Amino acid sequence: MTDTKLVLELFDDLATDYDRHLPFFATYGRELVNWCGLRPGQRVLDLAAGRGAIAGPAASAVGTRGTVLAIDNAPGMLRTLEADLGHLPQLSTQVMDAHHLDLPNASFDVVTCGFTMHFLDDPAQALAGAHRVLVPGGLLAFSGPGPAPRDERWEFMGQAVKEMSERPGRKPDPFTPPARPLPELCAEAGFAEIEERVVQKTFELRDPQHYWDWNMSHGFRGFVESLGPELAEEFRAKVFEGLARLHADGGIVMRSAAAFYRMRRP
Ligand SMILES: C[S@@+](CC[C@H](N)C(=O)[O-])C[C@H]1O[C@@H](n2cnc3c(N)ncnc32)[C@H](O)[C@@H]1O
Repeated sequence: MTDTKLVLELFDDLATDYDRHLPFFATYGRELVNWCGLRPGQRVLDLAAGRGAIAGPAASAVGTRGTVLAIDNAPGMLRTLEADLGHLPQLSTQVMDAHHLDLPNASFDVVTCGFTMHFLDDPAQALAGAHRVLVPGGLLAFSGPGPAPRDERWEFMGQAVKEMSERPGRKPDPFTPPARPLPELCAEAGFAEIEERVVQKTFELRDPQHYWDWNMSHGFRGFVESLGPELAEEFRAKVFEGLARLHADGGIVMRSAAAFYRMRRP
């Protein structure tokens, strides 16, 4: 079970660093907004908005005749969003849990959610809420981690995570994947025309420290912290060893992938 309170504390803690070392979420956020085909004047709700990877480009797309409401349960994340985007009159924020949308029925044309649906404690509940607040014909689009292209140069990373996960004495990871495939839950929530697409992006990291700083500025930090100080140090040393090899051998190039979903409320 995902521990919503621990996750909230984690994101509040890392908020100022989030998406600062590398525009990872901003890149995928822009791409998801493009896929939504937003039009000026539309009303958008961005669930778990974070620093505004989706809310920012969505606000540009709907313009000042439209509105974007960015909700997140971590006040620290919304403070970073407001610092970056608070000047946009069409954008507002509210501290709110994506499981409990305190918003009127059929009040949004589009609901978005970046890199969060896959770890919510109860995604079915969040999907039911998204369905309720959408107008008939409204669009839901969300993203999550995708199947990254296989790259044997990066296998050390998966091995280090696996090895550390199996060590005794580790606290539980605050994040748990959904018990059932998300498209199934979307259909059960009443969504139709469910489409899925994989989007790949490549990022170049300056050096091992750059990669580590990036990894510690998003949800992965929850895994590292769950190891406790000693195992975390051992994990860090292993990761740096592998990164140093990559760095010396052509550079630290990360090939990543996201799964995008788009569907309609009939
Ligand atoms: C990986 S970040 C994604 C942020 C943003 N959507 C993006 O694409 O960059 C996850 C975000 O979900 C928020 N979050 C986690 N659980 C939540 C919940 N139950 N309700 C609302 N927000 C939540 C976190 O505070 C964090 O801002």
